[in-house]
Amino acid sequence: GTGLDNLIKAKGKKYVGFCADPGTLSNSQNANILRTESGQLTPENSMKWESISPNSQGSYNWGNADQLVAFAETNGKILRGHTFVWHQQIPNWVKNINNKATLTSAIQTHIAAVMGRYKGKIYAWDVANEVFEDNGSRRDSVFSRVFGDWTFLDVAFNAARAADPNAKLCLNDYNLDYSSSKLTNFVDLVKTLKARGVPVDCVGSQSHLVVGNGAIPSFKTTLDSLATTNTEVQITELDIRTSASPSSSQISQQVTDYRNVVSACMKTSACAGITVWGVSDKDSWVPSTFSGQGYALIWDNNFNKKACYQGFVDGINS
Ligand code: G3I
Repeated sequence: GTGLDNLIKAKGKKYVGFCADPGTLSNSQNANILRTESGQLTPENSMKWESISPNSQGSYNWGNADQLVAFAETNGKILRGHTFVWHQQIPNWVKNINNKATLTSAIQTHIAAVMGRYKGKIYAWDVANEVFEDNGSRRDSVFSRVFGDWTFLDVAFNAARAADPNAKLCLNDYNLDYSSSKLTNFVDLVKTLKARGVPVDCVGSQSHLVVGNGAIPSFKTTLDSLATTNTEVQITELDIRTSASPSSSQISQQVTDYRNVVSACMKTSACAGITVWGVSDKDSWVPSTFSGQGYALIWDNNFNKKACYQGFVDGINS
């Protein structure tokens, strides 16, 4: 085949994937692009704690997540599960827990339920997401507040290993794209966790990038730092935003930037695969979060391939 996933597999990597959910899958152009170009899917929202169990412990909404998993199975795509321990999109009943025993049991029960339901069907799970602030300190959340240290991660990763021993268990974060105390502390945390026997198998670098960022040409340096954890490195949420109406120089810079990021993964043996955070610019999270910015993905608002598609291909072949 000619899709991005086929191209990257021919060069020895595991997958090119995209985020999806029943909303975007219901668009046949989107679904057809995923069938051809993708080998892996990540639920954009449907497996988040707030989506699965919004109201109370033990009551679950599986509908959207089940639909995504069914699409992946029918079409032979592997899945990345996303996500358990995160400060966002968690239900109020979890946010309001104020003692360690109750929160421990809530984390264990939730992970056992979700990973149990999809056992054997998920390649890798973002067990924890965005646990660092941008200055490199431990992020404030119900988890860090109630535990007072990093041991909420021990609870979560151990519960995950018990629930599905074959799934790869990842720590995922953003702004790991250049040298910083956040990157250093992230790498150190993974090493510390592993040293005390916490099962961390992979690190996810979201890679929400800004076109022309000075770190992109040396993206391999970042991936090399992440690889010092001796875990699998995955690019988990790639997009490269420009202004909402990009200039021609931004458009050509975006081609170069996609090529450089993909090339960095190709040249890093620990880098297993790349997930792009959406198909069409019309469904991207970027414009609603960063006013005046957009154009971050590989297909335009009408599902036409953009110039950066070729940048991605050139990166694979670099
Ligand atoms: O489903 C409701 C709908 O019922 C309601 O009417 C509507 C009104 O606002 O909101 C809908 O929920 C939205 C949800 O996406 C589903 O579309 C939320 O408002 C919106 O905040 C949510 O945004 C998601 C965001 O995570 C939440 O933090 C984005 O789609 C999703 O792309 C984004 O993904 C995150 C990753 O999980 C973690 N890394 C960063 C990345 C980008 O923010």
